[in-house]
Amino acid sequence: MMEKTFKCPDCKETISFSGKSGERKTVYCPYCRSKGIITFSKKGPKRDYAIQVSNLKKVYGDLVAVDGISFHVNKGEIFAFLGPNGAGKTTTVEMIESIRQKTTGTIKILGADIKTHFNNVKDNIGILPQEFHSFDLLTVRETLDYFAKIYKKHADIDTIIDAMDLRSHEKQLYKNLSGGLKQRVGVAMSLVNNPDIVFLDEPTTGLDPKARREVWMVIADLKKKGKTVFLTTHYMEEAEFLADRICILHKGKIIAEGSLEHLIEHYGNKSILNIKNCKTAGAIELLHEQGYHARSRGNGNIAISIEHKERVLEILSYLRHECIDYESIDIRRSNLEEVFLTLTGAKLSEDEA
Ligand SMILES: Nc1ncnc2c1ncn2[C@@H]1O[C@H](COP(=O)(O)OP(=O)(O)O)[C@@H](O)[C@H]1O
Ligand SMILES: [Mg+2]
Repeated sequence: MMEKTFKCPDCKETISFSGKSGERKTVYCPYCRSKGIITFSKKGPKRDYAIQVSNLKKVYGDLVAVDGISFHVNKGEIFAFLGPNGAGKTTTVEMIESIRQKTTGTIKILGADIKTHFNNVKDNIGILPQEFHSFDLLTVRETLDYFAKIYKKHADIDTIIDAMDLRSHEKQLYKNLSGGLKQRVGVAMSLVNNPDIVFLDEPTTGLDPKARREVWMVIADLKKKGKTVFLTTHYMEEAEFLADRICILHKGKIIAEGSLEHLIEHYGNKSILNIKNCKTAGAIELLHEQGYHARSRGNGNIAISIEHKERVLEILSYLRHECIDYESIDIRRSNLEEVFLTLTGAKLSEDEA
C-alpha cells in the first residue's frame, strides 16, 4: 500500500488516501464531500546511481575539510562539483576514487560500497587528477600505450586518439605539448581502460580560453559516448556550459544542488542590468534610495538585479532623470556567479584561497 496526499481542489484542505501501486480509484473529500479520481503511481524500478555519497566527512587535524556531505550522480550525466579553491573538492573526489581515506561516511560506485568492493568497480573508473603530469620524454602515442598496459581491459588507443583529436600530435613528445594539449592527453589517459565513469579534477585550470573550449568539447563528447563525467571545477562558466547537474561546495558543505535552471530559479535573480563605466558619484546610493538592488562591480561598473522586465524601462528613465552618466548598459540572464553570491555573500572568484 502507498499513501497519496494532496489539496482538495474545492475546499483546499489537505487530505490523504491510501491505495495500491498503479491503482485508480474514486475518492470523496472527507471535509466537503467533493468527488474525484486519483491514481497511485506505479513504483518505478529502484534508481541505481553511478555514484552515491552519504554523510561523507574528512578531517585533517583540526580542519573539517569535508563536512558530512550527501549527493548522487546519475548514470550518463555530466555532474559538476563546483566550488572555490579550498572548498574540499579534491579531497571529496579522491575519497570517491579511493585515493584518500575518508574519516566517516559511505561511498557507492555503481551500487558497490567502495570500502568493501572497490576491486569490483576500479576498472570502471578513469581518473584525471588535479595538476597531473606525464612522462616528458614519451610521445602522445607512447604515453597512452604505456598507461593502457596497466589495465587488463583497455580501449582501442587509435579510437581514443581520434576522439580526443590528437592524431596530428601523436608523435610529439609530451614535454613539447601546449597546456591545452597536455590536458587533452590527460583526459585521453583517463579513458585508456574504457571506463564508465570519468573523474576530471580541474581539467582546464591554467588554460587560455581557446584551449579551455577545446577541452570542453572533449568532455561534452564523453557524455555523448555514454560516459558519466564527474567534473571538479572552480570555473562557473565550465559548470554552466557542460553540466547536467551542479553541486556547489563551500567550506566543506554542499550549499546547493540541481540543474543550472533550478539553481538560477531558486537562488539567482531573473536578470541583471549592467551599467558600464558609470561616471556619476553616488549613483549606487541613489539607486538604493529608489529601492533598486544595485551593487558595485568595480571600475564604475554597477549591477542591478531585476525581477521583472518592466523594471528595465523604469531604471533607464530614472538614470536619465537623475542625469546619471554611463558608457553603456546590457541585460543578461543571472548566472552561477550570482547564485554563489546569493548563497554565500562572496564572489566565487574572490573566495579563492
Ligand atoms: N593532505 C592534507 N592535509 C591537510 N589539509 C589538507 C590536505 N589536503 C587538503 N587540505 C585542506 O583541506 C581543504 C580542502 O582542500 P581541497 O580538497 O584540496 O579543496 P579544493 O580541491 O576544493 O581546492 C583546504 O583547506 C586544504 O588546505
Ligand atoms: Mg582541488
